[in-house]
Amino acid sequence: ARPTRVRLVETGPRDGLQNEPMPVPLAVKLELIERLAAAGLTTIEAGAFVSPKRVPQMADSGALYRELPRRAGVSYPALVPNLAGLEAALEAGLDSVALFVSASEGFSQHNIACSRADSLVRLAPVAARARAAGLSLRGYVSCIVACPYDGAVDPAAVAEMALRLADLGCDEISLGDTLGIATADSVRRVIEAVARRLPRERIAMHFHDTYGQGIANTLASLEEGIATFDSAVAGLGGCPFAPGASGNVATEDLLHLLHGLGCETGIDPMAVAVTGAWISARLGRPYAARAGRALLAA
Ligand code: HMG
Ligand code: MG
Repeated sequence: ARPTRVRLVETGPRDGLQNEPMPVPLAVKLELIERLAAAGLTTIEAGAFVSPKRVPQMADSGALYRELPRRAGVSYPALVPNLAGLEAALEAGLDSVALFVSASEGFSQHNIACSRADSLVRLAPVAARARAAGLSLRGYVSCIVACPYDGAVDPAAVAEMALRLADLGCDEISLGDTLGIATADSVRRVIEAVARRLPRERIAMHFHDTYGQGIANTLASLEEGIATFDSAVAGLGGCPFAPGASGNVATEDLLHLLHGLGCETGIDPMAVAVTGAWISARLGRPYAARAGRALLAA
């Protein structure tokens, strides 16, 4: 049965902005996060403590978290790839972080410069230190259906990486269609493979919308009993190491789907649409979230 209550994880400030070619001023990032929290988003991924040479746009994450006003009831996780990143995150006062791995070998090498096996070895002390510091931990598995370098990905490889992240102490595992190329049946197969090893309450789905399948894939996932979805306001983003991939499924489009199906989210669609139009204007691009544009025009 479909869940009646769904939690959205807003990744716009991180996944959305990480690929922007021009630096986004810190004040704009802070205002974006604040507007999203005011709209009712309760999990907002706000930065990444990764190599600034690889992802220059996230280089100000330390400064951002030091300035970010925290709202009660809202968590603001960031990506952490290694111990250096975790230490920086702890210094900046984070209480939740996300670890990330790939289900495919090629993307692992291009994204984090090591094999899947080595990434798990590298993350073990990161997870242990994070748990000892009382942080909550999320895990990401990328390339759950296809990899830009290796092609098709076996659902068993996804399940294996998801389980390993859970073993490291990740409460929630987000399964990422990094390329935005998956269609509903392949999504169902992946969820079923992972759900044989992990309870569905611990699985989140992370859809990019490159081929326009984000909403269809979300519906398939809801029917598989998944109740947590990642999205990005205005459909911002893409990954610098997955050439051609576009942004996450737009938060605005997801809200239209979920509310139309009677799933509660606690999020105000109009406030998200106003925010989506605002950030798109700040980035100098047309506002691309269709449900948001329609709401503003209505
Ligand atoms: P490396 O490439 O192996 O090189 O790094 P390194 O370890 O020699 O480090 C390179 C430089 O970065 C060094 O500086 C390090 O000190 C520094 P240098 O000596 O050259 O001056 N460095 C750091 N600086 C700040 N914070 C750190 C840090 N670590 C090293 N934490 C590493 C390996 C994993 C660090 C690197 O490859 C990296 O940062 N990769 C991250 C790439 C990334 O952020 N990708 C996008 C996010 S993943 C994604 O978008 C997918 C997702 O959305 C889900 C989906 O859609 O599938 C989550
Ligand atoms: Mg992503």
